[in-house]
Amino acid sequence: MPEKILLLPGDGIGPEVIDEAARVLDRVGEKFDLDLSVDTALLGGRALDETGSPLPEETLARARMADAILLGAVGGPKWDGVERELRPEKGLLGIRKSLDLFANLRPAILYSQLAGASTLKPEVVADLDILIVRELTGGIYFGEPRGVRTNERGEREGYNTYVYSESEIRRIARVAFEAAQKRGGRLCSVDKSNVLEVTALWKEVVTDMAAGYPDVELSHMLVDNAAMQLVRAPKQFDVIVTGNMFGDILSDAASMLTGSIGMLPSASLNAGNQGMYEPCHGSAPDIAGQGVANPLAAILSAAMMFRYTFNRGDIAECIERAVVATLDRGLRTADIAGEGESAVSTREMGEAVVAAIG
Ligand code: IPM
Ligand code: MG
Repeated sequence: MPEKILLLPGDGIGPEVIDEAARVLDRVGEKFDLDLSVDTALLGGRALDETGSPLPEETLARARMADAILLGAVGGPKWDGVERELRPEKGLLGIRKSLDLFANLRPAILYSQLAGASTLKPEVVADLDILIVRELTGGIYFGEPRGVRTNERGEREGYNTYVYSESEIRRIARVAFEAAQKRGGRLCSVDKSNVLEVTALWKEVVTDMAAGYPDVELSHMLVDNAAMQLVRAPKQFDVIVTGNMFGDILSDAASMLTGSIGMLPSASLNAGNQGMYEPCHGSAPDIAGQGVANPLAAILSAAMMFRYTFNRGDIAECIERAVVATLDRGLRTADIAGEGESAVSTREMGEAVVAAIG
């Protein structure tokens, strides 16, 4: 049986970076003699333009059949005026929810070759290696009721519901505890328990679970402090676990510690280890179509796919080593090029990684 991979290039720079990740898939397929079946489908703004839906039925059906999905990015100013239900982002949220991809793993690793690309002092970020475990299918992103209504004073008001059940908290915390066991053994749970009941429950449930993981040192931090600590002394963290919205915000902050969001992959997993893998960066409409985007986050996302869905850590490491070798050779896309360094194109970077895989 071939391993079924579905590519969802999406919008903006998505197709450009996924093209390079697809070449990497071809190359490792040959090198490791894999039986990969790679297919492509529409998602996001282009899907809306071509089918009338940001998440067409056909895409969802194919996503359900796939073992793993590699996604580029969705959205762009072209669709800013579109009604909320049809927005490209709805396609992304819809696929996460439909496949129950509740566990979002967002590593932030500083490659030593890029220490100069961070806006923080080198000593603050040197050897940084943190993992944010973000709950992805619940919390305020999906809570009901939600909407905009007219109140008794005749004024419009917007409202959302921030809700987590115990079982939702438990399953994401389990992923985070287990990740901490395999890494540095430290887990920091981030909440706003001084104000929000939902996250006070979060803290209580995570605390209760700690007894089952005696080898993990659990700490708690309020989200505002966590945002500050991430830029003040990020190396104090090993694994961070938090809800959907806090994780969205903190993972962007963490990504910038590494110099460029263009370097960061992510994995979104369900209970069956089916996974969707995507770069943390967005569709970057300002540079789309120019062939200058950094494909490394998409390529590293493909590496995560081999590690988590296909249980092939050896292939993941082979891809990651090829990325490091390419950086060692001095190749830089514009986002990670230092002052005076010349930048290569998306394609040149992709080709160099393919060549380094050997
Ligand atoms: C992310 C993105 C998405 C999110 C958007 C595009 C809906 O910011 O993956 O972090 O908020 O989850
Ligand atoms: Mg985000």
